[in-house]
Amino acid sequence: MLYDKIKEYGPNTFVKCEEGAAPLDQNIERVLIPKAGIDQKVKELALAISKDYAGKNLLMAGILKGAMIFMADLVRAATIGVQFDFMAVSSYGSSSQSSGVVRIIKDLDQNIQGRHVLLVEDVVDTGLTLNYLLEILKAREPASVAICALLDKPSRRVVDVPVDYNGFVIPDEFVVGYGLDYNEQYRNLPDVCVLKPAAYATAK
Ligand code: PRP
Repeated sequence: MLYDKIKEYGPNTFVKCEEGAAPLDQNIERVLIPKAGIDQKVKELALAISKDYAGKNLLMAGILKGAMIFMADLVRAATIGVQFDFMAVSSYGSSSQSSGVVRIIKDLDQNIQGRHVLLVEDVVDTGLTLNYLLEILKAREPASVAICALLDKPSRRVVDVPVDYNGFVIPDEFVVGYGLDYNEQYRNLPDVCVLKPAAYATAK
């Protein structure tokens, strides 16, 4: 049915279905979290953060590129004034086997000494990226550092990281959309979707 619609509108097209937007192409298996569910969760997270940081001059630090869409929605749902900044990182070694050491491609623009910092991530998987970033940022002597992640895959965890604000706990499936990619594709899907294993099995 969905794929009939893709045929009708052409590939690389969003098609509406009951749950939200349908696949951009036939590599999408299903919608895991529809946009309406994400919107509701983002609102809840933003309210909790706004309450906890009231009067504290919060700096939200988004980790590019995956967190961009989540971050953009989160800051706009906040009911307190916040500042924001971005970091871009890349894992050393092969992408499928993270070493836990990340290279900073773009650092924060702001000095965080004495600041309250909230790291914003799209997904916590092994935890290695955030564990490393926490160490680096704590050495800069902020007043506090906390973590907000839209998605959490606890079954993949290698190091324990304290996720202070978590949106959804999800199973160990390859998810794309709402900022998350496969080979830089699908980031602009409005829903979080599961990629068909066949789509990436041959690429590994
Ligand atoms: C993803 C995600 C986190 C990291 C989580 O980034 O955005 O930064 O992986 O994985 P970990 O918990 O196993 O360390 P990715 O390297 O895919 O880059 P992207 O954000 O540009 O898509």
